[in-house]
Amino acid sequence: MPEIRPVSKENWRELIALKVREDQKHFVATNLYSIAEAQFGEDIPDEGYWAMEPYGIYEEDKPVGFLMMSYNYSFSRFQGFILRLMVDEKRQGKGYGKFGMEWMLEKYRSDPRITAVAISYEPENETARKLYASYGFVETGEIVDGEALALLNLR
Ligand SMILES: CC(C)(COP(=O)(O)OP(=O)(O)OC[C@H]1O[C@@H](n2cnc3c(N)ncnc32)[C@H](O)[C@@H]1OP(=O)(O)O)[C@@H](O)C(=O)NCCC(=O)NCCS
Repeated sequence: MPEIRPVSKENWRELIALKVREDQKHFVATNLYSIAEAQFGEDIPDEGYWAMEPYGIYEEDKPVGFLMMSYNYSFSRFQGFILRLMVDEKRQGKGYGKFGMEWMLEKYRSDPRITAVAISYEPENETARKLYASYGFVETGEIVDGEALALLNLR
């Protein structure tokens, strides 16, 4: 059974060593970039401050993937944003991506302040589109920074 662990001083080096396939590199930032970004979060005009939480996906004590959630309780449209999800090229297709998605959605669902969650992905990322649609994410038709935006209402 996989497990999720917060990024820490003990594990960040093994998590930045995870890589996606060469042809997937433009779909997702490196874990090194994401972990750096998470230290500060981001202020977005008209939305407010997005706090970020990075985690590793583990199987039998070995790192297999990475995910990053973000939160902004002051934004009325959606308060959660799934910022990153990646599974190492050698570990894909074994259910870790789904496990990570379900873990994040459960965490958002258990927080009554979160009414909706957003996600964005490159329009040609068919695997991501299908994965997110299977959890009920619906595209809004907006393209943000070249990525399709999709929303899931939780309540
Ligand atoms: C998208 C990603 C996180 C999915 O993780 P994963 O562990 O490989 O996926 P899972 O094994 O949980 O499978 C989820 C779905 O992806 C699809 N999928 C996974 N691996 C696949 C493969 N090798 N070929 C075709 N489809 C595949 C399947 O449709 C599967 O759903 P199904 O079981 O109902 O058929 C992973 O492929 C990845 O890291 N991709 C590169 C980075 C990326 O695009 N991240 C998302 C950015 S928005």
